[in-house]
Amino acid sequence: MVLGRVQFAFCGLLVFQTIFHCDGQLVAHKSYDPMSPLPFPTCRADNIDCLRRSLRTFFFLMDGGYFGMQPIDPTIINSVALSLPEQQTSFLLRRVNVTGARWTKLVGRRFDLENGKNGVIFSSDLHLSGQISMEVAGRKEPHNAYITMDIQGAESNITYAGMIHRGIDNEDYIVIGPERIAVRNMRIPSYFLQPNSEDSYIIDDALQQKQSILDHFSNEIMAALMHSIVDNFRMFSAKVPIKHYYKYYEK
Ligand SMILES: *[C@@H]1O[C@H](CO)[C@@H](O)[C@H](O)[C@H]1NC(C)=O
Ligand SMILES: *[C@@H]1O[C@H](CO)[C@@H](O)[C@H](O)[C@H]1NC(C)=O
Repeated sequence: MVLGRVQFAFCGLLVFQTIFHCDGQLVAHKSYDPMSPLPFPTCRADNIDCLRRSLRTFFFLMDGGYFGMQPIDPTIINSVALSLPEQQTSFLLRRVNVTGARWTKLVGRRFDLENGKNGVIFSSDLHLSGQISMEVAGRKEPHNAYITMDIQGAESNITYAGMIHRGIDNEDYIVIGPERIAVRNMRIPSYFLQPNSEDSYIIDDALQQKQSILDHFSNEIMAALMHSIVDNFRMFSAKVPIKHYYKYYEK
């Protein structure tokens, strides 16, 4: 059965709100049985406020490492490279510490896209810090600095195919196909370089001249984070029957 033909709401996640209200006892709750029948509120697929609350709860579970999910805030990204052949220059970001992903907001939800795919649009504000180096052709040593960057309101458009699979326990689960992610920056990320050195000055000059470098870094990092979020949802949906987190019914 194709998900596109089924109407969904992301609301059943509210089931887990109980966990949300007892931070103090989180560890004790980790052994919590996901299969226990819990009452969950119903909300329509077009009730975006309800979906937003559900998303908060999902992110909360993800950051708590429930159902084997990998927390994403903070995330360390080992390296992001960019080469600019025309400028004979290349940039490398290393050991980037990304925070803020847990406050990702739901902007829109679409069903019945082309080929029966589903879509979700997120908006994120992220804070990054890491090492930046810039290599220039013909120069032995790269220029090095430490960079912090703020990305505001970057939108990611995630599309994927979802299928419903009946498990041997006779429960329905969602199986998510490969996702496609497009990222759009609403504004050029702001940044700050340290220390106050000649290297920083040279890198700053290059970034000022070509702001698409920042856009590129921001997009790569956003896309990596979004893939992690989808992977986490795959993990979650393979373990938790749909009825616990989606109100769904056939048309
Ligand atoms: C990443 O940044 C956060 C917030 O500044 C900090 O708490 C955390 O320790 C950092 N993680 C690493 C591995 O540097
Ligand atoms: C998101 O991507 C899908 C598939 O490429 C496209 O159909 C849809 O219009 C996009 N949505 C937005 C808001 O850009």
